[in-house]
Amino acid sequence: MFDLELSAEEKEVIISQVSEILGQHKHNCENLVPMLQEVQQKLGYVPELAMEIIADALGVPAVSVYGIVTFYNQLRLNPPGDHEIKVCMGTACHMIGGQIILDSFERRLEIVEGETTLDRKFSLERVACVGCCAIAPVVVVDDYVDGKVTPTRVDGILLAFENTGKDKKQEQQEEKGEGQE
Ligand code: FES
Repeated sequence: MFDLELSAEEKEVIISQVSEILGQHKHNCENLVPMLQEVQQKLGYVPELAMEIIADALGVPAVSVYGIVTFYNQLRLNPPGDHEIKVCMGTACHMIGGQIILDSFERRLEIVEGETTLDRKFSLERVACVGCCAIAPVVVVDDYVDGKVTPTRVDGILLAFENTGKDKKQEQQEEKGEGQE
């Protein structure tokens, strides 16, 4: 795992959101998981900075909080990319080459599953059956479902999303701006 650099603005958002969450809970270990879930809900992932602030408030080592975050599948260590790539690893997809497809994305993006590229363009994860087994192996990018994917198609899929598609960060910022008005 590598650390994605956070901007000053991102740090500010993390600090303010985590402070708000801390303000709503008693600072004891029973509330650690609910607090982490709320961080995930608000920020889309659980940044290292959030873990440090929470650990400090609860008087526990940051490494213990990190251990909890890595234990729960639902908690992410990395921010979602502008485009979220999900490679299906349900039985049908796995049997018909899902792992090879996942490997191809990892090689091409130079990250491993669970991570986000340094430019934040793509994040990559494995998921359980997405319900389209007839067209296995399946890859879902954002809301777009692609079936019968082969390793040679991986570049094409990435290219399509590199040059087009929505920019989630921008979208979120716009939403936030509207919400504040
Ligand atoms: S196992 Fe991949 S869609 Fe069902």
